[in-house]
Amino acid sequence: MMSHATAPGKIILFGEHAVVYQRPALAVPVLQVHADVDVSNSLEPGIWIDAPIINLAAELSTLAPAHPLRVIIENVFQAIGISNIPALKIRIISTIPVASGLGSGAAVSVALIRAISGCLSRRLSNEQVNQLAFEVEKIHHGNPSGIDNTVITFARPVYFIKGQRIETFHSSEPFTIVIGDTGISAPTRQAVDDLRNLWQAEPDRWNSVFDRVGEISRKARRLIKNGEWQQLGPLMDANHALLQEMTVSSPELDHLVAAAKANGALGAKLSGGGRGGNMLALVTPGAAEKVARGLLTAGARRTIITEIQ
Ligand code: MEV
Repeated sequence: MMSHATAPGKIILFGEHAVVYQRPALAVPVLQVHADVDVSNSLEPGIWIDAPIINLAAELSTLAPAHPLRVIIENVFQAIGISNIPALKIRIISTIPVASGLGSGAAVSVALIRAISGCLSRRLSNEQVNQLAFEVEKIHHGNPSGIDNTVITFARPVYFIKGQRIETFHSSEPFTIVIGDTGISAPTRQAVDDLRNLWQAEPDRWNSVFDRVGEISRKARRLIKNGEWQQLGPLMDANHALLQEMTVSSPELDHLVAAAKANGALGAKLSGGGRGGNMLALVTPGAAEKVARGLLTAGARRTIITEIQ
């Protein structure tokens, strides 16, 4: 049987990093980029994986035991109770740039989990998919909040607090975001680990920074719910300043944030792990093209215009 699954990218609108410390964050799926996985039965024994995005073409047992793809696949077999390992061919393709804050790792995990379980005719619930994807996030970076796998599994906007029941949200009026990619890949793990060291050295100082971020996320959710998205701009600027303080911005991110504002964005901030990867800007629908052009002129590798519903 042939099985196909797709999973979207994501952006964090507010609250990255502080979310690791149980403060609320808002994230939304980005459907313009996605990971796609095909799984089919094979005549050749073994599990053959073809993943051109990471230059990988190999049989599963030749991968290191802690390789994220190996962990996902073995965990899925375990979750659905397969003891006789079937012969499979797996093809992974993705348009989500790796290590860019758009959730590439979580999207590959979610699509792979669904495609394998589909091929073996076992349906997993969203909660099971989410849990399996979370296990892999722990390999990508030691102490994940779980926001990436959650927003990608459910493919809905989420208001997320680590360890609490998932709350989705929707905007009473859609609004437009321009995403700009610095083109610099920056693994989330480093930024998360560095911030943990800062927090351990001065917990009071950082707890109050995280509290301010949490307050921004709560306000943002209220504004979005009331259709008052125009007022989100200053909250984005304030969140970016706090992320700078956390040392997770970079000159390139700051440069794109400034360029977005200079071209008429209502607010702008980095999004995701930081240090590279993507930033986002809030725009009126009429200003989206101008801001996107301004970002490209300022050095963005590419831009995506997306509407938040
Ligand atoms: C990464 O997309 C978001 C971070 O807050 C890390 C996490 O939540 O696990 C930086």
